[in-house]
Amino acid sequence: MKITLSVIKADIGGYVGHSDSHPEILEVAREKLKKARLSGLLIDFEVTKCGDDAQLIMTHQQGENNEKIHKLAWDTFISGTELARKLKLYGAGQDLLSDAFSGNVKGMGPGVAEMEIEERKSEPVIVFMADKTSAGAWNLPLYKMFADPFNTIGLVIAPNMHSGFSFEIHDVKEHKKITLNSPEEIYDMLIFIGAPSRYAVKAVYSRDTGDIAAVSSTQRLALIAGRYVGKDDPVCIVRAQGNFPAVGEILEPFTHPTLVEGWMRGSHHGPLMPVSVEDSTPARFDGPPRVTSLGFQLAEGKLVGPRDMFIDKSFDEARHQANLIADYMRKHGPFEPHRLPLEEMEYTTMPQIMDKISGRFEPLEE
Ligand code: 13P
Ligand code: 13P
Ligand code: MG
Ligand code: MG
Repeated sequence: MKITLSVIKADIGGYVGHSDSHPEILEVAREKLKKARLSGLLIDFEVTKCGDDAQLIMTHQQGENNEKIHKLAWDTFISGTELARKLKLYGAGQDLLSDAFSGNVKGMGPGVAEMEIEERKSEPVIVFMADKTSAGAWNLPLYKMFADPFNTIGLVIAPNMHSGFSFEIHDVKEHKKITLNSPEEIYDMLIFIGAPSRYAVKAVYSRDTGDIAAVSSTQRLALIAGRYVGKDDPVCIVRAQGNFPAVGEILEPFTHPTLVEGWMRGSHHGPLMPVSVEDSTPARFDGPPRVTSLGFQLAEGKLVGPRDMFIDKSFDEARHQANLIADYMRKHGPFEPHRLPLEEMEYTTMPQIMDKISGRFEPLEE
């Protein structure tokens, strides 16, 4: 049975500031999606949050990039924004960059990750969601899951994973894509995906079967809007077990709180902290950046779950380490590498300051 799993997300208003989502907004979304399930458009759904981002996890049989599904998500975000305006939530409608829906939410602000799959006998999937970070944040964890035998022993000892995975990589600035194969092309691949502000892993495929293993949202809000509006706060869907890594191999990369961009005003690097949905409340210096993960078993498209995967005690040490790294990074204040390099800064006073004082720059006498 072919099932499409669509995760579409947007920040439609923060509660308080950029620290959380208001429960009533999520309730509005649930009501909307409930109606769509009753009408038969959706098989099932889950509405959740990651920090100030509202997350619509939906199953259906309409395929990827379907106008009805995208319109449903868009209308849901519009209804949520109306309530956010009434409650005067912070940045109501922040990620909705257009006034009118035109067939697809891509390029309109919301983040989208979708995969159409033939549901297996048992189909465990993990949906990752992040706040205060940008689209390339999944590069390192996806590399570890699908290309690093020190993380995923299945690459070595499971015959159905031994031929490796292929990575579809998007150049988000030049709008180009390339597919590279692991393991034999990992040195070529790392030159790109090691630069996550420009190159983002869009999808991963099994080389044995060609089946899709993972897909992420690669929308870069600032590049769409041409100005700072908020961080991408991307999502990623990963299939588990069988021909894919085990659930534990998929979660393992997050025990290392990697440095990602997007903390405070979208302009700082900070550690990515794995947390439960309840703990996705980035309050310290609007962070540090968070990642949540919900696990489901699909059953004829029904979302059996969710299980909040990072609730597990074994991620306590990663959270502790993330807090230590947060302290360390914060001590750099306005200095790089805590602050992003100039060209990556989401907003900057540099042009105004330059205007004001450029006349005082003198050539160096050399
Ligand atoms: P179980 O024996 O609990 O099914 O675990 C199998 C496994 O390989 C887990 O990684
Ligand atoms: P969000 O992208 O999560 O809204 O965060 C914006 C920000 O600038 C926080 O400091
Ligand atoms: Mg926000
Ligand atoms: Mg956010």
